[in-house]
Amino acid sequence: MQPLVVELGDRGYPIHIGPDLISRPDLYAPHLAGRQVLVVTDEAVADLYLAPLRQALRDREAASLVLPGGEAGKTLDAVSRIVDVLVERRFNRSAAVVALGGGVVGDVAGFAAAIYHRGIRCIQVPTTLLAQVDSSVGGKTGVNHPKGKNLIGAFHQPVCVIADTRALATLGGRELRAGLAEVIKYGVLWDGAFFRWLEDHLDGLLVHDEGLLGHAVRRSCEIKAEVVSRDEREEGVRARLNLGHTFGHAIEAGMEFGHWLHGEAVAAGICMAADLAARMEWISGGEAERVRALVRRAGLPDRGPAGLAPDTFLRLMARDKKVVDGGIRLVLPRAIGDTVLTSDFDPCALAETLETCRADIEPPFFARARP
Ligand code: GLY
Repeated sequence: MQPLVVELGDRGYPIHIGPDLISRPDLYAPHLAGRQVLVVTDEAVADLYLAPLRQALRDREAASLVLPGGEAGKTLDAVSRIVDVLVERRFNRSAAVVALGGGVVGDVAGFAAAIYHRGIRCIQVPTTLLAQVDSSVGGKTGVNHPKGKNLIGAFHQPVCVIADTRALATLGGRELRAGLAEVIKYGVLWDGAFFRWLEDHLDGLLVHDEGLLGHAVRRSCEIKAEVVSRDEREEGVRARLNLGHTFGHAIEAGMEFGHWLHGEAVAAGICMAADLAARMEWISGGEAERVRALVRRAGLPDRGPAGLAPDTFLRLMARDKKVVDGGIRLVLPRAIGDTVLTSDFDPCALAETLETCRADIEPPFFARARP
């Protein structure tokens, strides 16, 4: 199948989507300038996919580094470990980093590629749904700071993205659902027809139907590629991709990174954004309920944690990178399929959302509580 393309002039790149792509040497070769390649991955992914990837790179001088998995590992220390290997192996400016794994590996390895020798090539090989539909595309790289999510980072576009949809077959249920949160996000923020398609096909997606997952990845990447091509540095329309993230990042930080998966926090955040928009009558109560219903059917949280008091929640939201002159800006729906970044929301309505949208139930128990 033809790759999608992120159109960024001479920094544009293909996104290959399909089954059994990890082991295809022909997808890597055109994007490697030299012989030196460092594959960065995590423990769980290494067991499954490091061998076929190394086989695809067998004519290169390939090294690998296996990091511990999980959001708690998205640190400057992990970046430092990658840079140490690049230095020890005397990798030069024509070397490349291949990020094999989920969002954490992609962000950390991408950031190391962004800063080593002021920038070397990076190929993203995402193996989770979340990484395939969002974090591997668009060049956002970085790590968390104890005070906030993704506070340290750089834009560094990959030279190629290889999304092997067969890798999704080995994804655990919780990881799959967390990825579906980002897929649902595209329906709410950009494409009402895709949201309807998700309502119709969610049950198949939840049982790992390969054809349906392939379509979901492709449509999500089409939207992401279009948005990034129009606004690489998030000076305009790209901010809309942060739907649910100001709420979500506050949940992740407030509950200590790693307790809630990123996608779980984003799911709750999308529902809270819809709740706020409905309170201000930007969308109807029926539309907000459609969003909540799809999120719940996906086994994802439609509210934040009861343990996060509204004033703490608000304080954490104020650390968001979209804050300007101390004012919180939120991405809010104007319809299913249309959103806007705005500071022009009713603070009383936001206070009501933060007070009302709280649940006692915590990850990873949502799926069991499905209606
Ligand atoms: N994950 C949002 C973006 O890449 O802009």
